[in-house]
Amino acid sequence: MKSLAAFAALIAAVFGAATAFAADPAAGKKVAQGTCAVCHGLDGIAKNPDAPHLAAENVEYLLRQLKAFKSGERKHEQMSIIAQGLSDDDMANASAWYSSIKIKAEMPQ
Ligand code: HEC
Repeated sequence: MKSLAAFAALIAAVFGAATAFAADPAAGKKVAQGTCAVCHGLDGIAKNPDAPHLAAENVEYLLRQLKAFKSGERKHEQMSIIAQGLSDDDMANASAWYSSIKIKAEMPQ
């Protein structure tokens, strides 16, 4: 049991929080419903022409952007404020939710 915990700690250390190792998409759906859907859609298809689609985006990319908005490394008048209100779990879970959505791309003829 002790070696299992050590192994889990090693995995967590190697992959880090940035991979959203323990992220919960169902909890992220609640965050999305409450805070993000008005602009990005609950389904990750943006409802607001300024906002990018988030559906099926890479989880690490999404989480990195949210952390960058929160730290001030990336700035946007709306997202910088929104990110201030998100905990690390909220960011990981919302990223997990949006990245878990499946989309199908259709190329123009
Ligand atoms: C008021 C509208 C609004 C709300 C609400 C909102 N966003 Fe955004 N979001 C934006 C806009 C606009 C951008 C584009 C920022 C830019 O141009 O740099 C953005 C950008 C992002 C990006 C970066 C996407 C990329 O492709 O780089 C992520 C990730 C993101 N939002 C996640 C969220 C999450 C998660 C929530 C809910 C917790 C949320 N947003 C709530 C408007 C919103």
